[in-house]
Amino acid sequence: MKSLLGLSDLGGDDLRVLIDSANGIRADLDGGAAPRQSLLGRCVANVFFEPSTRTRLSFDLAAQRLGAHVITFNPATSSASKGESLSDSVSTVVAIGADVLVVRHAEEGIPHSIAEWTGMPVVNAGDGVGEHPTQALLDCVTLVRRFGGVDGLRVGIVGDVRHSRVANSLMQSLPKLGAVLTLVGPEDWIPAPYDGSIGVSNDLDEVVGDLDVAYMLRVQTERGAEISEDYAERFGLDTSRATALGPNGVVMHPGPLNRGVEITDEVADSSRSLVLEQVRNAVPTRMAVLHAVAGGET
Ligand code: NCD
Repeated sequence: MKSLLGLSDLGGDDLRVLIDSANGIRADLDGGAAPRQSLLGRCVANVFFEPSTRTRLSFDLAAQRLGAHVITFNPATSSASKGESLSDSVSTVVAIGADVLVVRHAEEGIPHSIAEWTGMPVVNAGDGVGEHPTQALLDCVTLVRRFGGVDGLRVGIVGDVRHSRVANSLMQSLPKLGAVLTLVGPEDWIPAPYDGSIGVSNDLDEVVGDLDVAYMLRVQTERGAEISEDYAERFGLDTSRATALGPNGVVMHPGPLNRGVEITDEVADSSRSLVLEQVRNAVPTRMAVLHAVAGGET
């Protein structure tokens, strides 16, 4: 794999290879085994034009655990704040010696354009409302670890689906692994039409009892979404809705959480919540992806 720009390009088998590889790395890390330094001496550049905590930090550690050097481009503290163009900034990062670019940008398609101009391996770390492939992969890893597999799991993606690149990447992956998806949220946040294999509901209470996984999304106010006064009441996950998931039901969220909006403190911090487990799987998943795009023979 030259780059990872989105999951729409990958089939079920490709996804399973990455998920298995991430699971193996997670087991090695948990067991204290030193990971194979397949990026030894190479340079991974984190090029983040949008804020990030867990994605940037976990790419950083993932690259280091594979033996790579890591450089970080932050527009707020670099010449982008003096008006430097995107292409000049990226060409500079490449000329400095980056071998792999991890790119996040508010505009859809920018990582794809950068991959095309530079001819370099690029990993999409979130492009506008496009995709966030490594987030969906680490979510798959989390589900496989919890349930033993994804086939037949009933997953509800709840909230601001329309503006969510995470939701897009989940829709491009979970069904290929056999999960049954339902999108739940206010009408104008559930873009239609989806192919008939994905269910749609505007009533969380009506569907929550039929879900194994409630995957909650943050309302993306930075992309124009507004939080209505009754949002938490209609679509927020509180203890009574979480209980309706059944004894083995779990709650997921990509973070950052807006506590009190899409999820209550009580649910976010409950034993059903896999939020921190998702974060724990971020480093092994991103190691698997960096290895796949740049860990081969040079
Ligand atoms: C997500 C993102 O940035 O797309 N966060 C993340 O990477 N874990 C989701 C969000 O910001 O709500």
